[in-house]
Amino acid sequence: MSEEMSPIDKAKRAAARSAADMVEDGMRVGLGTGSTAAWMVRRLGERVRDEGLNIRGVPTSTRTADLARELGIPVVTLDEVGTLDLTIDGADEFDPHLNLIKGGGGAHLQEKIVATLSDRMVVIADAAKDVEALGAFPLPIEVIPFGWQGTQTLVSKALETSDVQGREITMRMAGDQPFRSDEGNYILDLHLGRIGDPRQLALDLNQVPGVVENGLFIGICTQVVIGHEDGRVELRAPAV
Ligand code: A5P
Repeated sequence: MSEEMSPIDKAKRAAARSAADMVEDGMRVGLGTGSTAAWMVRRLGERVRDEGLNIRGVPTSTRTADLARELGIPVVTLDEVGTLDLTIDGADEFDPHLNLIKGGGGAHLQEKIVATLSDRMVVIADAAKDVEALGAFPLPIEVIPFGWQGTQTLVSKALETSDVQGREITMRMAGDQPFRSDEGNYILDLHLGRIGDPRQLALDLNQVPGVVENGLFIGICTQVVIGHEDGRVELRAPAV
């Protein structure tokens, strides 16, 4: 099977398997969303089946919940466990401080809640996501459908005084309909180019009424596992 895999998938899989092997018996594990996280869930499924690994998984989306159940991973709700030992998730970008952009798959709201309630968040990624400054990847924000155009206007206004390069905002679509998150909300993608002060921007965006959550993860990720197409992995800690 691995002969047919693209180099990027090989890299994602290497990172995902390495992080899944950090999971220990008895852990409560946050299960991320996206193509890299799916490799991690598959590896955990193998470990549950082959080693009898005893874990409880809290999925961050219906997609991940469906995959985990299919693979025999015991799935519980966040409220059943309260806190988690470890969350493993993908990311769209990470910087030297391990600040992240997430939400390319539209699941960053649940992902941020789950990661924040975890003792550790390990991000799994291919090397293309390693950036000096966040922002080339469009920053997703989840907004409630009520008055979303007004919310977009207020976000535009907030961006006028933000340290960013670009300010275009697009509505995420699924075909000819607005994309809907698991909570039924819309996603606006902010094309910022470069974010000078991610922490400040995250605070400013969440001040806007109608914005439920932005895709900036500041000071949440504790380690990144970077996968390479030859199967090697590198571990990255936050720069001090
Ligand atoms: C899902 O909403 C995202 O936060 C993903 O974790 C992120 O987009 C990475 O996805 P891939 O692993 O598919 O690149």
